[in-house]
Amino acid sequence: MIKEDIIYIGVNDKEIDLFEGQYDVPNGMAYNSYLILDEKIAILDSVEIKFKDEWLNNIKKVIKERKVDYLIVQHMEPDHSANIVSLIKEYPNVKIVSNEKSFMMMQNYFNNDFKENKIIVNEGDALSLGKHFLKFMMAPFVHWPEVMVTYDEYSKVLFSADAFGKFGSLDVNDDWDCEARRYYFGIISKYGVQVQNLLKKISSLDIEGIYPLHGPILTKNIEYYINLYDIWSSYKYEEEGVVIAYTSVYGNTKEAVLKLKELLLEKGCKKVVVNDLARCDMHEAIEDAFRYSKLVLATTTYNADIFPFMKIFIEHLLERNYQNRIIAFIENGSWGPLANKIMKDMFSKSKNITYLDTSVSIKSSLNERNKEELNKLSEELL
Ligand code: FEO
Repeated sequence: MIKEDIIYIGVNDKEIDLFEGQYDVPNGMAYNSYLILDEKIAILDSVEIKFKDEWLNNIKKVIKERKVDYLIVQHMEPDHSANIVSLIKEYPNVKIVSNEKSFMMMQNYFNNDFKENKIIVNEGDALSLGKHFLKFMMAPFVHWPEVMVTYDEYSKVLFSADAFGKFGSLDVNDDWDCEARRYYFGIISKYGVQVQNLLKKISSLDIEGIYPLHGPILTKNIEYYINLYDIWSSYKYEEEGVVIAYTSVYGNTKEAVLKLKELLLEKGCKKVVVNDLARCDMHEAIEDAFRYSKLVLATTTYNADIFPFMKIFIEHLLERNYQNRIIAFIENGSWGPLANKIMKDMFSKSKNITYLDTSVSIKSSLNERNKEELNKLSEELL
């Protein structure tokens, strides 16, 4: 339940196709913003620029003739900061509460560091609104360097910025884990160390609600969400299972992949996920690679390199610090297969990767030797 004097004033974006220019969001996106109604009125973050009027109307509906005293800026990415100027135009005396880095970014975004309006806060600083007592904690790189989160000691609410967010607008009832995981591994997973630092900071707090900048407010089973964030940010796998990510030009590599899947299921493997990287949502495939314990990569040798979708997929994993997993390779190359070596070399700087002994090398189509290799590989993957 949302606390009665913390009012949701965010918006649902039903028009957006790609969040941050790359993530499919078939269920839209929510830009959350919160208003605390106390002796002083504070707002936490604004919303994307095209929702200026809706957001300002949401504020007015709640506060009527009163004025906004504080805008707390936790994150400067434009999905949350774009309407800072709109709020100042509407409420010229509003104080903008944020850290030094955010004000530098405001200078860059708006050519103005709001000298007349600004209140700079640092780690541990507090702001009293009356009953509500807000404490600020810096959370650099969760997701940008200026990010901070806010804990309200009165309501025991953690305003968590991008952390604990998910894709999807708030009027769609979809699975939290699935879309929060895709969001996490898309947007934040590079910064596992920094997320761990934030989890340490909040570990001593009594938290009754997590109020993120995207996705639903979390008020039940808080430990469950914190535990998932701990698993994700420490790069541990969430479930035992085999993900087979592949590309196939004429269907021969695909045949090997489907054969491997069949063998794994026959031998009792509980979870096998297959992703055709040319056709699936790349970010679902990335999410799966982080979710499960083992990864098989199957691709063709192509222009003395590997097939483009596979190359992009591995680059996405590396960029997000993929580690602590078991990996196996299947290659196809009609006259000079190189893909297994190229793929393995790409992971050379990744931490704690175990490569399975068996790799499969196909020359055009599956032969008896390949079928034996697939059988052996399936046994190693169990
Ligand atoms: Fe929701 Fe990093 O912005």
